[in-house]
Amino acid sequence: MSSARFVLLSLCSALLLQAALGADPLFHFCSDPENFTANSPYEYNLNKLTSFLNTKTPPSGFGLGSVGQYQDQVYGLALCRGDASPSVCKACVANAGAEIRSRCPRNKGAIIWYDDCMFKYLDTNFFGQIDKTNKFYMWNLNNVTNPALFNGRVRALLTRLAKAASSIPRLFAAGEKGVEGKTKLYGMVQCTRDLSAAECKACLEGAIGELPSCCDGKEGGRVVGGSCNFRYEIYPFVNV
Ligand SMILES: *[C@@H]1O[C@H](CO)[C@@H](O)[C@H](O)[C@H]1NC(C)=O
Ligand SMILES: *[C@@H]1O[C@H](CO)[C@@H](O)[C@H](O)[C@H]1NC(C)=O
Repeated sequence: MSSARFVLLSLCSALLLQAALGADPLFHFCSDPENFTANSPYEYNLNKLTSFLNTKTPPSGFGLGSVGQYQDQVYGLALCRGDASPSVCKACVANAGAEIRSRCPRNKGAIIWYDDCMFKYLDTNFFGQIDKTNKFYMWNLNNVTNPALFNGRVRALLTRLAKAASSIPRLFAAGEKGVEGKTKLYGMVQCTRDLSAAECKACLEGAIGELPSCCDGKEGGRVVGGSCNFRYEIYPFVNV
């Protein structure tokens, strides 16, 4: 009896701990094999950049900055999901900046993604360039009944959203589309704001072009990169 209660209590505290620490990352890459040494100027600059991004990002959902000079200069950015509130954004970026350091403790470059934000840094200036290296897919295991028709509608929705997002400074768009009968399709696209409108559009078109390899006939999917991402589902997932 008492041991059963103990198990229950441990389970509860494990759940509370999980909630306090935030969600698990979707994915990460230690993207630069070069290492910095402990207590080096690079580490100092990276720490400074991380706290800068923690403060800079939440109000607008995007932060970008660089700290240091020459071989010790570090470049970084953080982006929150377009529908994330400043408080959700703040918690996500703080968590991401800490978590990536524990996963890539000495790498000069790294990137980590969560549902609500991404965090990236590198020892070279990557601003304004489409990141073609860091990318992953996610998909719903469920298959739709008419893949050809469904795929076409997904592509049409995402293409429309890519156009909308790249025409506004926030580089974010969400929307929906009616699909046969009651089923609806929901989508979201976003770019990092170091990209120009044209680069954002090109980045999203590239991602949409990967639909066949990512999410062919799947009820939901995401192509997530270092410069842009999309997601679609047959249920609403965007906070309005
Ligand atoms: C960086 O450090 C890791 C872990 O200590 C090591 O495996 C790797 O070879 C190092 N990379 C370089 C380029 O020195
Ligand atoms: C979806 O289709 C794939 C490929 O035909 C199949 O391997 C998979 O089991 C299907 N998924 C479900 C949930 O039925």
